[in-house]
Amino acid sequence: MSSPENHAIRLEHVSFAYSVETVLSEIDLAVDENDFVAVIGPSGCGKSTLLRLVSGLILPSSGEIFANGKKVEAPGLDRAVVFQDYSLFPWITCMGNLVLALEQSRPGVSKKHCREIAEEYLAMVGLAGSGGKIPGELSGGMRQRVAIARALALNSPVLLMDEPFGALDAITRARQQDMLLNIWQTSGGRRKTVVFVTHDVDEALILANRVIVLGVRPGHIAVDIPVPLPRPRSRGNSIGSRPFLLLREQLMRELDLAVSTQLNLAESKDGSGI
Ligand SMILES: Nc1ncnc2c1ncn2[C@@H]1O[C@H](COP(=O)(O)OP(=O)(O)OP(=O)(O)O)[C@@H](O)[C@H]1O
Ligand SMILES: [Mg+2]
Repeated sequence: MSSPENHAIRLEHVSFAYSVETVLSEIDLAVDENDFVAVIGPSGCGKSTLLRLVSGLILPSSGEIFANGKKVEAPGLDRAVVFQDYSLFPWITCMGNLVLALEQSRPGVSKKHCREIAEEYLAMVGLAGSGGKIPGELSGGMRQRVAIARALALNSPVLLMDEPFGALDAITRARQQDMLLNIWQTSGGRRKTVVFVTHDVDEALILANRVIVLGVRPGHIAVDIPVPLPRPRSRGNSIGSRPFLLLREQLMRELDLAVSTQLNLAESKDGSGI
């Protein structure tokens, strides 16, 4: 049951502008502890900006954000982030990237133990043999998996993921979705609160309990749709079921509306509008 005490994340009347143009306007959003929320919306509507705000990398122009009961004023180890552009240190190995993050997040834990944890998480994302490589020696999709392993290894209660599987081929993507589903569904009391940005409607429906569609100019919550598909969920038992297809149709309609609005706004701005 949702109450202010068990909100892992709460945004109250949050607006944000990088410069003059407002990117996000009056966002009110509460995410329950241990929930899995997907955010979708047209390119440029402010999804990454929303995650950056929750991560504390940027601060709202107005309004307030709370994470795990505290006002967000800076990044914190209670919120692990997988960025759209991986953000690994390019000059150290994949293992080194994980160990560095683990040493910072678990002071007092020996380097040897950090290496063991890092190995476990690299194996979980299918990169058991790649720990000794630097990010430049890996494909984009592999780098992204290292970034996912690093975020998972931190064991933060909140996991913010910005299109984490966007760069992967279809099969690897499906496997990584299964991996994340499996970790999230089987972690019991250690379950994380996940906010997951994606462009992929099917991915949102397979993974999340709730899908938020952002509208454009300025970015706002257009709709907030619950996903009452049964758990434990797998790709196999979700995709193609009638409730899945109905939700998919609804989300596609909402996205279509958001994209049409974006195009109409762009046309009226250049004076070429209908
Ligand atoms: N650092 C920045 N400085 C100025 N404007 C920015 C900056 N980052 C993003 N923007 C602008 O803010 C708006 C929202 O960008 P954002 O990256 O949040 O979109 P998005 O929904 O994540 O898009 P995509 O799906 O393409 O990743 C865009 O108009 C973008 O041009
Ligand atoms: Mg983005």
